[in-house]
Amino acid sequence: MLLAPLSGVTDLHMRRIARRCGASAVVSEMVAAAELARGDAESQLRSEGAGVSPHVVQLAGCAPEPMARAARIAVETGADVIDVNMGCPAKTVTGGAAGSALMRDLDNAERLLGAVRGAVEVPVTVKMRLGWDEASFNAAGLAQRAERLGLNAVTVHGRTRQQFYKGNADWAAIRAVVQAVRIPVFANGDVTGPEEARACLAASGAAGVMVGRAAQGRPWLVGQIAAALAGEARPAPSREECADIACEHYEGLIALYGPAMGARHARKHLASYVDHAGPGALATADRTRLLTTADPAAAIELLRKAFLDPDGHVLEPLGEAA
Ligand SMILES: Cc1cc2nc3c(=O)[nH]c(=O)nc-3n(C[C@H](O)[C@H](O)[C@H](O)COP(=O)(O)O)c2cc1C
Repeated sequence: MLLAPLSGVTDLHMRRIARRCGASAVVSEMVAAAELARGDAESQLRSEGAGVSPHVVQLAGCAPEPMARAARIAVETGADVIDVNMGCPAKTVTGGAAGSALMRDLDNAERLLGAVRGAVEVPVTVKMRLGWDEASFNAAGLAQRAERLGLNAVTVHGRTRQQFYKGNADWAAIRAVVQAVRIPVFANGDVTGPEEARACLAASGAAGVMVGRAAQGRPWLVGQIAAALAGEARPAPSREECADIACEHYEGLIALYGPAMGARHARKHLASYVDHAGPGALATADRTRLLTTADPAAAIELLRKAFLDPDGHVLEPLGEAA
């Protein structure tokens, strides 16, 4: 059970917490290969992995040489696995012929994967979509090329690029990829709990599941799903534990990025944590203050209030992944 790469979300601290809570592996936000290769500081922070093992760095790019250079830099600075992004649908990425645009030109995709494979000794994986659009489901072909090059695993998001995030992920369509290769295939898209994870595995025949959006504000979720699938009776984290995790995550971001940028990075996490703390956990004015304050002590106090002394008095257990 893996935590998906989510740009702007799966920062170092989110990955550390998710891994500690039982995710089998966690993937960094995508890192622009060309920027990492020229020593960009923000890219270095995105690829930071201290305390995360295995440390999987995802690289995005469209040219073999910068990708190979970035892969070497990532490994020199601690990456245990390099994942290549062939799934990102964003125009800023596909416009540069990276991300899912690589699925429109499998020869170029293969050159890129070959360059990364040849540049490093560690395992290399690739994350893709089903294809560019409904008329070109070519994930199985790309996975076969990846396997021939010696890549170690493949993840497939069960949507096409043209779907972006619309409609439902087609888990059954991932089965064609599973049947096309011998390396492990992980299925991704719309898994939010154990029931969906079981259904996804049954429909796809995949070796495992990768969970993305559902884990935002609940970094313990991936471990909860893994435990449920293993038949382990693991209680959901208590509200106290959730509050501790949210505060640890916030404080980690402030330490990693500094107070101003750290608070900006933390904003979306704080909103998600409060949403998961239950309806009415914070009054609107307090929620706004939490999301805008530059005072870490005030933010911590409001986060604790959301979980432990909510305005709406909804003290139900949290994180139930059943
Ligand atoms: C905000 C956001 C950022 C994402 N960033 C990345 C990324 O950096 N690399 C990548 O391969 N996929 C990225 N994705 C796609 C997810 O990894 C995943 O494939 C997709 O969200 C479907 O899985 P889910 O339904 O479990 O979220 C991103 C998705 C979202 C919503």
